[in-house]
Amino acid sequence: MAVSQPDASPTTPLALYRARREAGDLSPDPAQEEAIRRLDALAAQLADYRPTNGARGWRARLGLAHDAPPPRGLYLYGPVGRGKSMLMDLFFAVAPVERKRRVHFYAFMQEVQARLHARRADAGDPIATVAAQVASEATLLCFDEFEVVDIADAMILGRLFEALFAAGTVVVATSNRAPDDLYQDGLQRDRFLPFIDVLKARMTVIALDGARDYRLQRFAGRQTYFIGPAGTRHRALEAAFADLTGGAEGKPVELTVLGRKLAVPRAAKEVAWFGFDELCARPLGPPDFLALCQAFHTFVVEGIPVMNRRLRNEAKRFTIFIDTLYEAHGNLVASAEAPPEALYPDGEGSFEFHRTVSRLNEMQSADYIAGRRG
Ligand SMILES: Nc1ncnc2c1ncn2[C@@H]1O[C@H](COP(=O)(O)OP(=O)(O)OP(=O)(O)O)[C@@H](O)[C@H]1O
Ligand SMILES: [Mg+2]
Repeated sequence: MAVSQPDASPTTPLALYRARREAGDLSPDPAQEEAIRRLDALAAQLADYRPTNGARGWRARLGLAHDAPPPRGLYLYGPVGRGKSMLMDLFFAVAPVERKRRVHFYAFMQEVQARLHARRADAGDPIATVAAQVASEATLLCFDEFEVVDIADAMILGRLFEALFAAGTVVVATSNRAPDDLYQDGLQRDRFLPFIDVLKARMTVIALDGARDYRLQRFAGRQTYFIGPAGTRHRALEAAFADLTGGAEGKPVELTVLGRKLAVPRAAKEVAWFGFDELCARPLGPPDFLALCQAFHTFVVEGIPVMNRRLRNEAKRFTIFIDTLYEAHGNLVASAEAPPEALYPDGEGSFEFHRTVSRLNEMQSADYIAGRRG
């Protein structure tokens, strides 16, 4: 008796994407459809592609043939949570390339700098040597989270990528910035500009800018306000931070507000983490909270205390913060000593605090987080 075979697993990026759509795993998204078609076309081109590693083939040298130029890479950029990494990973999983590598761009540049450092005493051009090494290890390089902040990286990227492209390497990247916005306001940016031209010459730039932050949408419905033992609360906040940032560690950043520096202790992917005192016991005012709410869509605030008259300034700042966050339709994940109703029972401004309580409650709802307020 014939046994029916299960469907073979999809072998192209588009088929893989459709399978996930049909499984109900992904919502329809025209910007993603367009991007996955481009990735699919690139995968098809890669099936027949053999890099020449910069050397022209013997037929070409004899004038008998022209080496086909390498396929153009793709540069996917857009706001957080739009599915850039998800699409690149689908593509990477089935890209018909023997030597392929997917790496976080930051880790890649660390590695390049270490390799350059190891060759600093060599004669010749160490960037060319390192580029040749990298190109020999992988024909397809997929970089997640392409960004340039470091001047040491900015100054070598042009030559590094020119050499990689000359060796026939194909690059696919995701980024939160358009190529023209890379290394914005960086030192000696004029020396960086040729790199942007190299990128644009060798990669097709695609904006993935659908309306929805799917990471946040997937978060809706989860618990966002934690009371209970400190250790448990802390672990719950860490888990939420990881979910909201796709597993990023987070690092300190600085905003500039009215010419002053405002330190954010830990941030990644438009999510900021503050201890309650870092947010409300420092002399921050409305412009600071506004700048914060413009820079981040979600705040993790750890350790909101039960407040009394002595903590009236903290309570006041917390009220301003919550009002500003609510106006910006931002989100809060918090741990506290008590439920919202019991945070500031009496003291100056405790009447106004009722509004804060009401907002704290509303902000916990799945509808608020998924953006369906009112
Ligand atoms: N069409 C979709 N429907 C439902 N969920 C989706 C869809 N697209 C992506 N997701 C999910 O949303 C989350 C965020 O996607 P992803 O990490 O790819 O975003 P990103 O654009 O790379 O964001 P970032 O710029 O922050 O790195 C993932 O869990 C992903 O699986
Ligand atoms: Mg990503």
